[in-house]
Amino acid sequence: MCGIVGYVGKNNSCIKVLLDGLRRLEYRGYDSAGIAYLENEKIVIKKESGNLENLSNVVDASIDSNIGIGHTRWATHGKADRKNSHPHRMGKFTLVHNGIIENYNEIKSDLMSKGYVFESETDTEVVCALLDYMYRTDKDILKCVRKLGSVVEGSYALGIICDDCKDSIFAAKKNSPLIIGLNGDEKFIASDVPAILDKTNKYIILEDGDYAQIDADNVRVFAEGKEKFPEVKEFEFSLSDIDKQGYEHYMLKEIHEQPEVFKKTTKDYLKDDLNNLIDMMPDFNKYSKIRIVACGSATHAGLVGRQLIERFANVKVEVNTASEFRYDKLFLDKDELVIAISQSGETADTLEAIKIAKNNGNDTLGIINAKGSSIAREAKMVLYTEAGKEIAVATTKAYSAQVAMLALIALNLAVSKNIIEKSEMLSILRDTKNLPNYISILLDDDEYYRKVAESIKEHNDIFFIGRGIDYALAMEGSLKLKEISYKHSEAYAAGELKHGTISLIEEGTPVIAIVTDEKVASKTISNIKEVKSRGAYVILVTNKEFEDNSFYDEKILIPKVNELLSPLLTVIPLQIISYELAKINGCSIDKPKNLAKSVTVE
Ligand code: F6R
Repeated sequence: MCGIVGYVGKNNSCIKVLLDGLRRLEYRGYDSAGIAYLENEKIVIKKESGNLENLSNVVDASIDSNIGIGHTRWATHGKADRKNSHPHRMGKFTLVHNGIIENYNEIKSDLMSKGYVFESETDTEVVCALLDYMYRTDKDILKCVRKLGSVVEGSYALGIICDDCKDSIFAAKKNSPLIIGLNGDEKFIASDVPAILDKTNKYIILEDGDYAQIDADNVRVFAEGKEKFPEVKEFEFSLSDIDKQGYEHYMLKEIHEQPEVFKKTTKDYLKDDLNNLIDMMPDFNKYSKIRIVACGSATHAGLVGRQLIERFANVKVEVNTASEFRYDKLFLDKDELVIAISQSGETADTLEAIKIAKNNGNDTLGIINAKGSSIAREAKMVLYTEAGKEIAVATTKAYSAQVAMLALIALNLAVSKNIIEKSEMLSILRDTKNLPNYISILLDDDEYYRKVAESIKEHNDIFFIGRGIDYALAMEGSLKLKEISYKHSEAYAAGELKHGTISLIEEGTPVIAIVTDEKVASKTISNIKEVKSRGAYVILVTNKEFEDNSFYDEKILIPKVNELLSPLLTVIPLQIISYELAKINGCSIDKPKNLAKSVTVE
């Protein structure tokens, strides 16, 4: 989603800092970009639609400037064109904004009646005019920035420069992430630390309702009119962690990091004995039911988790899409544990869902990758996945880390309820040790996955089928494929096909069929035979050997491990087939069109 970067300091290379910072925020997704900087005491604005190259072409980075703000915009209000891109300027104020102002129409009409004329269709320009209008009476910038909080509804992270105070950036935050970076007499604002990581790893997180004045020497943060002194944090990753390290795409690098991510996510919980598994996790036994809220792939991880927790621990789990949950009638018993799953920890719908559960009096737990993110701070308890920084918009390693964490929760419950056989326990521990190696073996088969991708590249409709755990995996495989290769794809519960969708199967239609779930394998095979006999081109992903090989065209064999861990293997070929297909089609793999990494608006 939109990215913000800002610089104020004693160095004159502001324009370069802004452009470099925006480049590092590209992964969030955007469709226009712009900067505003001080040149010879005047605020200059440059902005262009399309990618950062277009902006770089109209900016002279050698111009001396020591204060400025920059923005990559992911269009919400108004087209992705030049006039709607940020920064916006009205009267004495220039600003960049991430978020959505819900009552902007009302404010806009009011300001128009007072003589303001708007150039763009954006909600952001309205905030800019509002600040200018309030400032005409108040003559106190900080007071006006604070007042925004009581007038404006919705979400915002704002970087503001006022003509009457050209040595400071003003910032404000509500429901959209914003940090302040510190490096001696240079200060920064950014949506995320990587934007400024070549300059500093020291930063302050702004909380909802915070506003700040930042100049080269000082950072002053306020909440409700009082100055506060937030902790200065150190970002744990280095620039090399957010480098492609020789891989052609971040997505490929992140797929290949999965053996390591699994080790890191599970290592503290699975030592030689299982004490840590119990001691380091919340007491899940006290809840009657688990409710998972999440979006996109995180929901799919939740659906795998549901199967694992219900089967291994005999605890009911319900999975809700956060964007639906937040407006559904609330049927949430007080003794349900509500788990929010999120890589970024900033997804607006998931954040709202966890707030609703909290307000209802429920215990909440975040399974989160980004440390200190909004959902991590909002949830009562947090279990961090250790996927490291994920840059590619389509999640791979963070999804696997979420599944691994849910498998640990299933195991924790099964052990603490004493309902798992010792022999099964031992087999799980053995498989856990071998799993990174098995993932690497699957990764080595990339040539075969490329061949499979080649064999389906001419088709525009690709189906994924499976039952039980395999259906949850089919959903993730299908999402991955469509979001990066732009091919239409659907995931179906294999038994549902003949209730309608099977009419779409014709000669050569690719069907990726997943058969790893022991309980329902024979049933899925019958469904595969039904599509095969109607001409489908079947790519079978399985951990089983079959004497009859007439019901599939390609077969990808997954090493056999305990069911608790098997999804972490099955997903690997699904990710790589999507990657290869996107590559064959020449798609923008790391930044698919229209998508954003961190969805901070609902
Ligand atoms: C798909 C994908 C998205 C995210 C979803 C939730 O590849 O990445 O579907 O899973 O937007 O994001 P987080 O996990 O950051 O809440």
